Amino acid sequence: MNSRLSLLLILFLIIVPESIQGSIFKTFSSTLSSKPPPSSLVFPLSGNVFPLGYYSVSLQIGSPPKKFTFDIDTGSDLTWIQCDAPCTGCTLHPSLLYKPKANTVPCSDPICSALHWPNKPHCPNPKEQCDYDVEYADQGSSMGALVTDQFPLKLINGSALQPRLAFGCGYDQNFPSAHPPPATAGVLGLGRGKISVLTQLFSAGLTKNVIGHCLSSNGGGFLFFGDNLIPSGGVSWTPLMSHENHYTTGPAELLFNGKPTGLKGLKIIFDTGSSYTYFNSKTYQTIVNLIGNELKGKPLKDAKEDKTLPICWKGAKPLKSVLEVKNLFKTLTINFMNSRRNTQLQIPPESYLIISKTGNVCLGILNGSEIGLQDSNVIGDISMQGIMVIYDNEKQQIGWVSADCDKLPKK
Ligand SMILES: *[C@@H]1O[C@H](CO)[C@@H](O)[C@H](O)[C@H]1NC(C)=O
Ligand SMILES: *[C@@H]1O[C@H](CO)[C@@H](O)[C@H](O)[C@H]1NC(C)=O
Repeated sequence: MNSRLSLLLILFLIIVPESIQGSIFKTFSSTLSSKPPPSSLVFPLSGNVFPLGYYSVSLQIGSPPKKFTFDIDTGSDLTWIQCDAPCTGCTLHPSLLYKPKANTVPCSDPICSALHWPNKPHCPNPKEQCDYDVEYADQGSSMGALVTDQFPLKLINGSALQPRLAFGCGYDQNFPSAHPPPATAGVLGLGRGKISVLTQLFSAGLTKNVIGHCLSSNGGGFLFFGDNLIPSGGVSWTPLMSHENHYTTGPAELLFNGKPTGLKGLKIIFDTGSSYTYFNSKTYQTIVNLIGNELKGKPLKDAKEDKTLPICWKGAKPLKSVLEVKNLFKTLTINFMNSRRNTQLQIPPESYLIISKTGNVCLGILNGSEIGLQDSNVIGDISMQGIMVIYDNEKQQIGWVSADCDKLPKK
C-alpha cells in the first residue's frame, strides 16, 4: 500500500465479549423536565481534507480543565481519548494524555449498557470496569475502559455548564500503518447511538438531538449541537433510514453533469470521520470511466508516479488550486428519491478533487469495496466542504445548505 493520507473512521464493530446471564440491562433514560427550551453549543473547527485528512475540535475536560483535540466523527458513537493508564500505542507526549483518576464506570452502570447496546456488557463482577474495544474501517482501533468526567461548556444562551459525560479512556491504540497517526488526542463520537456525546447531551436535556457542521475548504469551520443555528429556509432535507446505526440516507441515484448514469438505489452514509468519499466498486468504476472520457483531449495526463491517491493527473505546470482545473471536470449530483421534493446534493469538482504536494490533481473518490464497505457509499469531508450539514435525530432527517463556513455564526 502507498502512504495515503486518509482516515476512515466509520465504526465496523464493537467487540463485545460473550454476554453472561443475569447481567443488568436498564435503558439509558432521560430526566427531561420542560423548563427553558434547550440551547445550543458551537465550537470552532480546525483541520482540512488535505494534507491533514481530518477536522478537529478542542474540548476541555476535567477539573481543573485540560484541553484535548478530537477528530469529529459522525460515523461512530464512542468518544475516546488517548489515556495514560498507562498506554500502549499512544502517539501523544505523555504530558498530553488524559489521566484517569478512579473515575472508571462499573460495568453494572446503565451507561455501560448504552455503550454495548444492543448487546449486553460482559459483566462477571458488577463492580468491574466497563471495557470497550472499537475498530474502524481503516483498520485503526482503540481499546480501553469507560470513564466519566466533567466537560466545562458554554451554551449560546450564556449559561455555563459542566455535564459529566462518559467516554473511553483509550490505553491501547492501533493506528493503520498506511498513514501517519493523526495529531488529535482522540475521536469525538457524534453518531446516533446511545453512547454518543450527542445522545448524552440530549438525554441530560441540554441540547436538542441535532448536530451540524460546516467544513471550510480553507480549513477549519464550525460544529454545533442543538438547532438554534439552522437557517429557517433553503435547507434540502432527506429522511434518515431507520434501523441503521449510521447516518444513512437513500435510495439515491447518481447524475454526472446533470445526466443519469444508470446508477440507482444507492445507500449514502454521511461520515465526517472519512477524509474522502467512497463509492462501491460498480459506482466507482462508472465515475472513473465518465471522468476519464471527459478528460480525453484535455491538457491533463495520468500521473501514475504520484501515489497521493490512486488516481492523479498532471497538468502542463504544477497546480496550486483545484480552481485552476475545475472547468475540466463535471459536477456529480446525488438525487435522493425518497424525499418529498427532489432533493439533490451537488458535488462540484472542488468537492471531489485535491491538489497533491507535487502539484497534481487527484481524485478524492475512492473504491469502497477495497476497504470492505459492501453496498454502502460514504460521503466524506471532501464532499461536505462549503455546506452546512445538519443531522436531525428529532425529525429523523439530514439536511444541507450552502454556507460560509469561515464565519462562526452569531446568535
Ligand atoms: C440555557 O439553556 C439551558 C438548556 O439548554 C437551560 O438549562 C438554561 O437555563 C438556559 N439559560 C438561560 C439563561 O436561559
Ligand atoms: C474495487 O475493489 C474491489 C475489491 O478490492 C475490486 O474487486 C474491484 O476491482 C475494484 N474496482 C475498481 C473499479 O477498481
